[in-house]
Parts: sequence; C-alpha cells; structure tokens
Amino acid sequence: MSKNAVPESLNEEYYQISSDILESFSKYRPPLDIFRFKEDVARIETYYRAGGRLSKEQVEELAELTREGLIFVSRRDHPVYVKHISYQLDLVLVDKNLKEREIADIFIQALTMRLENFMEQPVRALLERLREDVMVLCEYVWNDVHRIRALTRRLHTEHTLAHHSVNCGVMGTALFIRLYADDFNRGAMQRKLFENAVMGLFLHDLGMSKIPVFLRDKTQALSRDEQSKLLSHPGTGYEMLGKLDLKDRPVEQCVMEHHERLDGSGYPQKLKGKDISPLGRLCAVVDSYCAMVTNRPYAPAKEPAQAANELAEDAKHYDSRIARLLQSLIVTGK
Ligand SMILES: [Fe+2]
Ligand SMILES: [Fe+2]
Repeated sequence: MSKNAVPESLNEEYYQISSDILESFSKYRPPLDIFRFKEDVARIETYYRAGGRLSKEQVEELAELTREGLIFVSRRDHPVYVKHISYQLDLVLVDKNLKEREIADIFIQALTMRLENFMEQPVRALLERLREDVMVLCEYVWNDVHRIRALTRRLHTEHTLAHHSVNCGVMGTALFIRLYADDFNRGAMQRKLFENAVMGLFLHDLGMSKIPVFLRDKTQALSRDEQSKLLSHPGTGYEMLGKLDLKDRPVEQCVMEHHERLDGSGYPQKLKGKDISPLGRLCAVVDSYCAMVTNRPYAPAKEPAQAANELAEDAKHYDSRIARLLQSLIVTGK
C-alpha cells in the first residue's frame, strides 16, 4: 500500500492531507503550495504553487493521489493552514496529522473570530456559527479532557471583549473539568450539561456587546449614568438570551451571576453564598482571574500565580474551593 511507502520523517516538515481537507480547499486554486510524494524516487516534489491554477485533469489526479496518501502541504504554511481550517473547524476532528498544539492554535483562532463577529453583531445567525465551533471544541475535549490544557497555554494577553470571552471560555472549561473531575472520571458527567456550561462561559459577557467600547474601557471615573449602564450588562445579556432563544439554565447562570459575590456585595441581584449557583461562582472566579492577567486600559496585567493567589485568599467574595482549584491549575500546570 502506497501509504506505507511514505517515510515518517516527512511529517516533520509536511502535513499529509486527507480528502476532507483537500475538498475544503478552493478546487482549482488551493490557498497554499501542494506537494506530492514520488514513490519511485522517494522524494517530495512541488505539485502546485499557491497563486496558480489547477487544470481539470490535475484536480482529478490530485483527488486520487490524496486518497492514496501521497499529497502534502508544508508546515511552513502553518498560518495559512490554520486560518483555512479555522473557517471549517470540524475538519480539526478528522485531521489525523495535526499536533495537539497546532489544534489548540486553530481552536483559539476560530473561536476568537466567531466571538468577534458575534459581539460586533449579536444576532442568531452569528450565534449559530459560534455555537457550532464551541460544539466542535466540546467534542474534542470530551474525548480526552486533558486536551484543554494546550488551549489554556494560549490565552490572549491584550484585552478586547472577544479576547476576554475566549480566555474565560477556555479557562472556565478547564476549571469546570477540574471541579467535576470525579464525574468525568466515572463517566457520570452529562454531555448536555458540559456543553451548556462551556457555552455559558464563552457567552457570560454578551450583554457587554451593547455597551459602547469607550465606556467598557474608560479609565477615568464614571458618571452615575455610565456606571449604571455598565452594571446593567448581566441583565442586558439575560434579555438577549431570551431574544436569541438560548434559554439553557447553565448559560443563564453564567450571564446573570458572574458579578455576584459570596457576601452579597456583587450585582445585579446581590445574591449571597449558596444562592449563587456553583457554575455562577465558577464563572465569577474565572472572569476575575482573566481580567487580572490581561493588560487593560486602567490596570497592567498581573502574574497568573499572583492573580490566582489573590482570589484564593479572598474568601469573602469568591468560593475558596473553586479558587484553590484554579490556583492548582495555574501553579502546578496540571
Ligand atoms: Fe461581566
Ligand atoms: Fe467578563
């Protein structure tokens, strides 16, 4: 079988591409260089250069060669490849040649793009695109929960609403898995609950999309009006969920409760202690952590360990068990 004739070492420099990936490229004008492994001389040769055009015969031949496992793209084209796959994220699940860190790059890029689009224009069609990609992430992580770790090492360092949402979604998912580790280990975690929690973590600040950017990032003191507008974002987000027909309880809990604090000093409902759901408490820890470790217009970033320590010590406001789990996630890297 020709697949066996391809030397392993090729994978250092090239990705072998599958038929699914090939079909997802523009048929006559693929976006990147394509290489063919020539069995007779055991060498890789250029088959097509980006910017050119394939003939009809070549398109057919290329499909056949790909089925035989003889077609490659260069890892030098990683950025083009990542961008391409990020538009059709489900391809990640069928591509056997991507390394874990490459997949993590693709997820971060895809989710950032979807969140930028959705936060810019929070309508149902764009929510659906985001949801599809979040579900691909759920599938990927569900099959091996340790996979989330590679994503947590790739968080955004500059603050935007979309970046913050990605960071909270990823860190929140890692923390959720840690908090319910027993359930995951015993196979007792419900898939639907997991998916809804992950969705909620990515969407917790959707109400912020209705608040003008200058106000979100304002460094000077806020007027009373501006302050009340800012504090209304959980409620605004909740109303938006209704209009978007997204009424799953875990999503609502993330949106409504991430600014509640255990001593009742939070907002919007001034809930106390156990009146805040476990997911709401988790989202509060993650939200504060992600804000602390990112450069913001009004405060420089803190060191991750420092931020996690502060939260773990603040038992008045944050669930210490959850904050300590975050601490161990950060400090031990496990
Ligand atoms: Fe918020
Ligand atoms: Fe937030």
